[in-house]
Amino acid sequence: MQTRLLLIRKTKLWFVRLQLHRVFKPFAGAMDQLLHLTRLSEWVHANRKLPYNDFPHPRWDYGKRLEFYAHLNAHAIGEGPITYLEFGVAQGHSFKWWVANQKASGSRFHGFDTFTGLPEDWGVFKAGAMSTGSKLPDVTDDRATFHAGLFQDTLPGFLTTFQRSGKLLVQMDADLYTSTLYVLTSIAPILRKGDIIMFDEFFVPTHEFKAFREFTASYRINLRPIAAANNYYFTAFVVE
Ligand SMILES: C[S@@+](CC[C@H](N)C(=O)[O-])C[C@H]1O[C@@H](n2cnc3c(N)ncnc32)[C@H](O)[C@@H]1O
Repeated sequence: MQTRLLLIRKTKLWFVRLQLHRVFKPFAGAMDQLLHLTRLSEWVHANRKLPYNDFPHPRWDYGKRLEFYAHLNAHAIGEGPITYLEFGVAQGHSFKWWVANQKASGSRFHGFDTFTGLPEDWGVFKAGAMSTGSKLPDVTDDRATFHAGLFQDTLPGFLTTFQRSGKLLVQMDADLYTSTLYVLTSIAPILRKGDIIMFDEFFVPTHEFKAFREFTASYRINLRPIAAANNYYFTAFVVE
């Protein structure tokens, strides 16, 4: 034990003194991907038996998103009222679906986005991708409100006066690790048993999956998977 500890300490010290980051840095991205892909694959195989799951599906199919929403709406959410929080709205495709399909007058819908696109690069998508040119989605329903700006700027104020109406339904569609982790950690205090969190890009190992993993481990919140579609890209959890 003592010898092992000494060896670890010495290895770290010499790694830094010899600046071995210069040797390993070119491979760090690939090693990070491999590490998180390993964790994601392990997680998937431990969570195959869900009430709703199409894995393995032969191809990427974005169209499955609406079937996935309809399943959750019918089996996990019901008639409402609900409080819907969407992080990453862009033109509002998913936002509009929920406004149209949750008709209770007491429901409230909040959409958060810069509306000027991604704040940082996300894989092949560069910062600024998905911008609507600051235009808000054309939603006229009085129950809906948009919060334009970085989540890091708009969410703290929103949460100080937050009041829920029924079950909370959270749509995580910000793509980025940083944005997803920021939102999950910020909303942790308002989560209650039975609330639902959906991820739109859960099958991306170093972004939404990594944020989910770190959040659940650090906050010791159990999110139980209840539905997955499009090979776990769309995955929903219930708060326990
Ligand atoms: C994939 S798009 C959302 C798509 C949308 N849900 C739909 O159904 O069409 C991702 C969005 O997340 C937003 N986003 C990512 N990180 C953000 C942050 N930190 N603050 C505000 N918006 C952010 C981007 O501006 C982008 O519009």
